[in-house]
Amino acid sequence: MKKNLFIALEGIDGSGKSTQAKFLAANFEKEGHKVYLTCEPTDGPIGAMIRSIFNHKMEADHRVIAGLFVADRLEHLLNKTHGILKKLDEGFTVISDRYCFSSYAYQGVHMSLDWVIEANSLSAELLRPDLNIFIDVDPEISMVRLNKGRDSIELYETLENLKIVKDKYFEAFKKLNSKENIFITDGNYSPEVIAANIWKGVSQLL
Ligand code: ADP
Ligand code: TYD
Repeated sequence: MKKNLFIALEGIDGSGKSTQAKFLAANFEKEGHKVYLTCEPTDGPIGAMIRSIFNHKMEADHRVIAGLFVADRLEHLLNKTHGILKKLDEGFTVISDRYCFSSYAYQGVHMSLDWVIEANSLSAELLRPDLNIFIDVDPEISMVRLNKGRDSIELYETLENLKIVKDKYFEAFKKLNSKENIFITDGNYSPEVIAANIWKGVSQLL
């Protein structure tokens, strides 16, 4: 039986996380893993509320958004039928498109990073990823990709904000370096090259 893993994909909007999640799932399946692909914000009721704030259908203060992400993440972990902990128990390798570092980076822009880390500590202590994979892309490039693929821009998707978010990711990586396993990959290559580089990083865990 293969040891099943929990992998988090991180990066600014448009960095290629969803694209790489699919490559990574296929590579794990080739290795004989059962794979469960999931994402945050979740598709549950708290995630749906977050998405309506991001789509400008609802308004909320950044502190409320931070609280919603804390709750959405706990639900993502603890849901009795399809929570990440349940899926890991069932032997799945779980790949999550975003996890705690997304809150450190995005909510860390609006409140202190220490507060965000503390607010998410229940989740982080329940489950730390075997690997946090950060796809490192210039905000200018991700903005071009986002503008190509969509006709509306979500709450946090401005060039100025994504620059600050990227810096916050690195601040959080530095702060949590001793607690978290972090793999940074250059996201400015083709999807296939990035997938191969990520797989090299993941292979060390197999
Ligand atoms: P994210 O999930 O991080 O927002 P996506 O995987 O949805 O990113 O990618 C955003 C857009 O960029 C999509 O249109 C996708 O096809 C494209 N894309 C993804 N990876 C690359 C890449 N390495 N080079 C160029 N375009 C890419
Ligand atoms: P996502 O659907 O992953 O967007 P994208 O595919 O464009 O990267 O995430 C939606 C937004 O949610 C994105 O702008 C990042 C934000 N977000 C936070 O602000 N905090 C969090 O903890 C998470 C998980 C996401």
